[in-house]
Parts: sequence; structure tokens; C-alpha cells
Amino acid sequence: MVNAEKFIAKAIEDIKEKSNGKKVVMALSGGVDSSVCAELAKRAIGENLMPIYVDTGLMRKGETKRIKELFSDLNLLTIDAGDEFFEALSGVTDPEEKRKVIGAKFIRIFEREAKKTGAAYLLQGTIYPDIIESEGGIKSHHNVGGLPYDIDFEGLIEPLIDLYKDEVREVAGALELPVEIQHRMPFPGPGLSVRCIGEVTKEKIAVVREANAIAEEEIVEKYSPWQCFAAVIGLGTGVKGDVRLHGWIVSVRAVYSRDAMTAEPVEISWETMHKIATRITAEIPEVARVVYDITPKPPATIEYE
Ligand code: XMP
Repeated sequence: MVNAEKFIAKAIEDIKEKSNGKKVVMALSGGVDSSVCAELAKRAIGENLMPIYVDTGLMRKGETKRIKELFSDLNLLTIDAGDEFFEALSGVTDPEEKRKVIGAKFIRIFEREAKKTGAAYLLQGTIYPDIIESEGGIKSHHNVGGLPYDIDFEGLIEPLIDLYKDEVREVAGALELPVEIQHRMPFPGPGLSVRCIGEVTKEKIAVVREANAIAEEEIVEKYSPWQCFAAVIGLGTGVKGDVRLHGWIVSVRAVYSRDAMTAEPVEISWETMHKIATRITAEIPEVARVVYDITPKPPATIEYE
């Protein structure tokens, strides 16, 4: 593990030096990586930091509001881009294609907004496992591979490039970021779209968003998992009242992990599973069935796509 204090001092110096007195733009998602980057950059260059948050319409319940509150001390620019993302995703079913469409859309929007700021540098929260996974062809991260944006940045600043997630969390602690951010579960860049097998529609995302919120409410505090969530994995038959229903099948997943390269399912109690299934089917009328996923990684991945 890095010495967090030394890492912070050096990262601040590096950001100062690399940005050369010019403006720096960054995409802030509210996850621990981008939050640590934002805090380091704020300490290094203050007002020259220009963070942008893109609401893709694929975020968790209450996420945009929470991010605005958490980062109220930053000059955060929020872009409401949900409609653009749903339009771009229409008809797309292949998981890698989805990632590419979302990555490209995100970049275009970010590029458009960043251009207006006149920033010379781009700051990214890329961490070491992103590089390994992209190079290994496991999945493409749109923040890996040099400068992904067409606009004329003079350079890229990636302060966390040598760190694993648990090291980033230690740095977050040393920076005294809110505990909520330090312990935030990882949330994938493509958002709820990878928790929605097949085509992404507004209806499916609304179901996934509610189911995720319920899974988090029932699991996070009791089990402190590395990650827990719910995904829509297909359609099945159910019965509500006297009526047979063709409804969504929701899978709930909770895992422990060190760095997301491997993962073990959390042994949720029967009582908790029962409560989750009852709540999801009662609170989300479109859901016919709830299952709990007990597959480790490998062979399964953590997300569904
Ligand atoms: P998997 O599903 O590959 O996920 O076991 C490992 C970790 O990465 C997150 N994840 C992503 N993060 N872009 C991201 O920024 C992505 O496309 C993506 N896909 C998965 C996942 O949530 C887990 O923490």
C-alpha cells in the first residue's frame, strides 16, 4: 500500500506542475476515484478545476441530487443528458456495443461542454485495474487508451493510475472525504445499463433503479458488501392477485471482494432474502420474480453484462 500522506503531497505537486497554471476539466461521477481526483485537484489548483457531472439517465435513485449536495463546495456543472443516452441506446442489445455507445455519447457530451470552459487539461480518475482489464480485453473502459477526447487538450492528468481501489479508499480517508464517499460501492461507468440485460429502455431502467435502491437499503448496512445491486435479467410468468402476469425477473447480487478481480457471494440470511423479494415484487408492480445470485467471480463477472 502507498503511504497516503506522501501520495497526496506528491499528487498535489504533480497536478500543479502538469497543469501549468491553466484550467483543468474533469468528469466527476461521485464515485470514490473521481471524488479523490477532484479533492486533490481542488487542493492543487483551486478555481482552475472545472468539474462536470453528466446525468446519463442511467444513474441510481437520488444520485444526481446527492452528488450536487456532496460537492456543493465545487463549481460543479451538471448536464441533464438522459434523453440523449436513451435515444443512442435504442435497439442496442450487445453488452460491448452498449458500452461503446455509452462511452461515445459520454465523450461527445463531455467534449461539447468541456469546449465551452476553455480548459487546457483533462483530469481522469483512471486506476490500475482499468488498464489491466482494457488491455486484457475483459471490457472496454472509455477512460483508458490515452486521450479519448477529440478536443484539443494539451494533456491528460491521471493521478490515480498506479493505485488499486482499496488504496484509493485509503487516500480518500487521509483526505478526510465524507465517509459516504470513502466507502461508496463501485458503480460502473455505463450505470444501470449493464444491470439491464438486452435493450435499455426507460421502463426497464425505472424497474432496475427501484430494485437497486431496495437491494441497497436491505443489504448495505447489514453486510457491508463490496458491491450489491439488482438487475433485470429477463421476462417470466408470475401471478398477482388472480391475474397471471408476464413480468420482469430481477436478480439480486451482493459480493465481497478486494479489488473486483475476484468476488465471493455474500451469504445473505433467508429472512433478508425473503424481505427483499417481498418488497421488490410488492413495490414494483412490473416484477414477477426475484432470484438471488450465488455465483462467485470467476466464473461469473460481478455485473450482468
Ligand atoms: P465485472 O462485472 O467485470 O466488474 O466483474 C468488475 C468491477 O467493475 C465494474 N464495472 C465497470 N466499471 N465501466 C466501469 O467503470 C464498466 O463498463 C464496468 N463494468 C463493470 C463493476 O461494477 C465491478 O465493480
